[in-house]
Amino acid sequence: ATTLGASAAEKGRYFGTAVAAYKLSDATYSGILDREFNMITPENEMKWDATEPTQGQFSYSSADQIVSHATAHGQRMRGHALAWHSQQPSWAQNMSGTALRNAMVNHITNVATHYKGKIYAWDVVNEAFADGGGGGRRDSNLQRTGNDWIEVAFRTARAADPGAKLCYNDYNTDGVNAKSNAVYAMVQDFKSRGVPIDCVGFQSHINSGSPLPSDYQANLQRFANLGVDVQITELDIAGSGTAQANSYASVVKACLAVSRCTGITVWGIRDSDSWRSGDTPLLFDNNGNKKPAYTAALDAINGS
Ligand code: G3I
Repeated sequence: ATTLGASAAEKGRYFGTAVAAYKLSDATYSGILDREFNMITPENEMKWDATEPTQGQFSYSSADQIVSHATAHGQRMRGHALAWHSQQPSWAQNMSGTALRNAMVNHITNVATHYKGKIYAWDVVNEAFADGGGGGRRDSNLQRTGNDWIEVAFRTARAADPGAKLCYNDYNTDGVNAKSNAVYAMVQDFKSRGVPIDCVGFQSHINSGSPLPSDYQANLQRFANLGVDVQITELDIAGSGTAQANSYASVVKACLAVSRCTGITVWGIRDSDSWRSGDTPLLFDNNGNKKPAYTAALDAINGS
């Protein structure tokens, strides 16, 4: 096919992007969105600070706008993110212990219930492991409520929306390393004890300083072998031209080579939409024109 989404669908996959609600009125932006992408992740609108700015008072208007857009255009949704140490509302940032644990459970129940039936996959827990060689959990207020906070989050999400796939999502886990080994051990433990987990998201924010790991595909495959789906969830690749295009093609080929890799999401549409200011890490330039990286990704999906 001739677009990312339609070509991915021919291969039984999806091709998605992060979307900001306030950009939907930009015709260039939504034109590309609706032509090329069949999965949407809200870039910020479903996060804790956006959906529960005051404790117990839920605010869904921006996220609902994105979900309505997706429904109207036949796109599916990845929900992002129910429990995360970052982008918490200030009332939660200052909480601890049982009060914070209860607030997290209440938050997950409310948000997952509000969107019940409308989410293909939720990032239930985001970025809970530490960087570096230690292979441990990231210190955070949520982690300090007890090591079981992650499994409690997954069980709570399952109870609220049994139809959604439940994912663990992280960055710097794109190759075999201490951090991805720690996530791997957690998934293995969850599967052995029946903690509900269906998928692992690999953000794949690729820097020029640390290029695509050579064991990228092997890493996806070892997680898939545990009995979970794998997804590329926040792809962006620093650089430009042929080098960037080749890296995009490599990511696409790796996903297609892993039968349980169900889809790829890029973290924005045009370079000017990227959170990485000063970089050009996406598939469309600032004017919405296709870059060499776009063509390489499309050709890789189509196998040419
Ligand atoms: O909404 C406020 C606005 O009211 C205020 O005037 C403005 C001034 O700074 O800030 C606005 O909030 C910003 C928000 O994006 C919405 O635009 C925050 O400052 C800014 O920090 C926030 O950045 C987001 C970042 O997550 C926060 O951690 C990026 O857009 C978003 O792309 C980025 O996405 C994350 C994923 O969720 C998780 N993985 C890493 C990825 C990249 O950092």
